[in-house]
Amino acid sequence: MKGLFISFEGIDGCGKSTQINLLAKYFAGQKRPFVKTEEPGGTAGSNEIRKMLLKENNFQWSVETETLLFMAARNDHVEKVIKPAIKENKIVICDRFMDSTLVYQGMRSDKAKILSLSLFKLIGTYPDITFLIDMDPEIALNRALSRKTDEDRFENYGINFQYKLRKKFLDIAKKNNKRIKIIDGNQRPETITSQIIENINGLVQ
Ligand code: TMP
Repeated sequence: MKGLFISFEGIDGCGKSTQINLLAKYFAGQKRPFVKTEEPGGTAGSNEIRKMLLKENNFQWSVETETLLFMAARNDHVEKVIKPAIKENKIVICDRFMDSTLVYQGMRSDKAKILSLSLFKLIGTYPDITFLIDMDPEIALNRALSRKTDEDRFENYGINFQYKLRKKFLDIAKKNNKRIKIIDGNQRPETITSQIIENINGLVQ
């Protein structure tokens, strides 16, 4: 059994969390060791950065500085959680990873995109497979906002921002079509999970 790194991506409220939980349940049933984690987060230090970044109305940083903070959180997460788990031949299921930075920050600034790509080369850990849960932005945003957390900074940018995010995710998926699988998020959750498992089956050893 070899380690495998799976990431999930998509706009806010696309249904990633439901799918991640269903996939975790599947691996648990298979008695396959796995780690379920998220970005920004996954370690104590990265969670501190998460709190600062996602707080509602926190606009004290430029998008470039924000990118450096997301990358700092990622570095800690990769060093302490992702790399060790893969080394121990576990499956890593990660809620968001590098594609989110390219979409959320890269979309707003070329410099942010270059910064994130340069740092990411140094971090050097790539997902084996990524699922982009593609979803109608209107439905997704309503769902995200109805959760009423104190982490609504990006949701509060409004519906046009979500449409742009979706387009950018789809563009990146098309350019990386070997790694990123686009899944139609408007289907029943169980149908989506079985499509995800079908894609993973060839990779799980
Ligand atoms: P979540 O709501 O899926 O937990 O994601 C947290 C928010 O952080 C979401 O709105 C996307 C945003 N985000 C970025 O802007 N850049 C990143 O690199 C990551 C990982 C998340």
